[in-house]
Amino acid sequence: GAAELGPYRHYMQKEIFEQPRAIGDTLEGITGITPELFGDEAFRVFKDIDSVLILACGTSYYSGCAAKYWLESIAGIPTQVEVASEYRYRTSVPNPRSLVVTITQSGETADTLAALRHAQSLGMTQTLTICNVSTSAMVRECKLAYITRAGVEIGVASTKAFTTQLAALFLLTLALAQSKGKLSDEEEATHLKAMRHLPAALQAVLALEPQVIAWAEDFAKMENALFLGRGLHYPIALEGALKLKEISYIHAEAYPAGELKHGPLALVTSAMPVVTVAPNDSLVEKLKSNMQEVRARGGVLYVLADADTKIASGDGLHVIRMPEHYGALSPLLHVVPLQLLAYHTAVARGTDVDKPRNLAKSVTVE
Ligand code: G6P
Repeated sequence: GAAELGPYRHYMQKEIFEQPRAIGDTLEGITGITPELFGDEAFRVFKDIDSVLILACGTSYYSGCAAKYWLESIAGIPTQVEVASEYRYRTSVPNPRSLVVTITQSGETADTLAALRHAQSLGMTQTLTICNVSTSAMVRECKLAYITRAGVEIGVASTKAFTTQLAALFLLTLALAQSKGKLSDEEEATHLKAMRHLPAALQAVLALEPQVIAWAEDFAKMENALFLGRGLHYPIALEGALKLKEISYIHAEAYPAGELKHGPLALVTSAMPVVTVAPNDSLVEKLKSNMQEVRARGGVLYVLADADTKIASGDGLHVIRMPEHYGALSPLLHVVPLQLLAYHTAVARGTDVDKPRNLAKSVTVE
């Protein structure tokens, strides 16, 4: 009811603003990295495994896609991410030394549970879940677990569950890196410090809301949008596009920026705004040339720029600058303005934000 919503208009907005608390709670009490954070048997399991197989659906699948970048670059562990409903029905090559990681807010998604059981039936018994509900079927059926502490999420479009999953997956990356001898004490301390800073960093990003509302006024008039990202931020572009289509009913697609010229550039006109996520330092020059290509076709750019990039607003180029440069944890911060963009665009269009048509919070049947 209205009392629970406090100053917010919808649960989704409330949940977006709860993220500093949700991340703080999810990482509460962590003073050092150890496999035991994931369960009693984790020490032995992490030593044994040689790869990771992530299974999930929807927004949870995108957090898995981001985790792949961390797991390969920080822990040096080959990682595969699969949509649960595809994995369960295809003939794949099982690796009994793979750690099967399911990611699920509810812990009850039928396809994700079936995918887990399918992996188990193929002899993959090292299983771990990142889940928001400690009493769920998924937690019961996996050997290891990390419970995110997002709290109850009511908005159908997932927000705080996603960022808490990312926090847990970052922790998993560090624990696996440690097991494989790839995490020095110094690196551990640096990462822990960055994790402790997350609630404050998120708070500063939430303060960008007025600038995002200005973008949303433009988006509310559109029927299509393109989201571009590179590397670790490509999954964030995917999640941004998903949020927009789920609640505002605007057709949105995400592409890795380098693929622009292999198709989506043909769609770019002034009626196709292009959101560009998080230019990485190393890729910023390439990204600038992608942006030129969009401008040359009359496309209007909405750029979520890193704190230290020098891209400035101009004709057909709208820039929101992130308050800081976040390094590896950057996806957790960059997704927030995209959640707010979808939210305010949907509000401007007058859709049922918390209960979008045709969608369910938890899909417990196939
Ligand atoms: C539904 C929800 C999404 C969610 C997906 C997976 O489609 O609307 O928000 O990402 O299910 O749910 P899970 O509980 O497994 O994370």
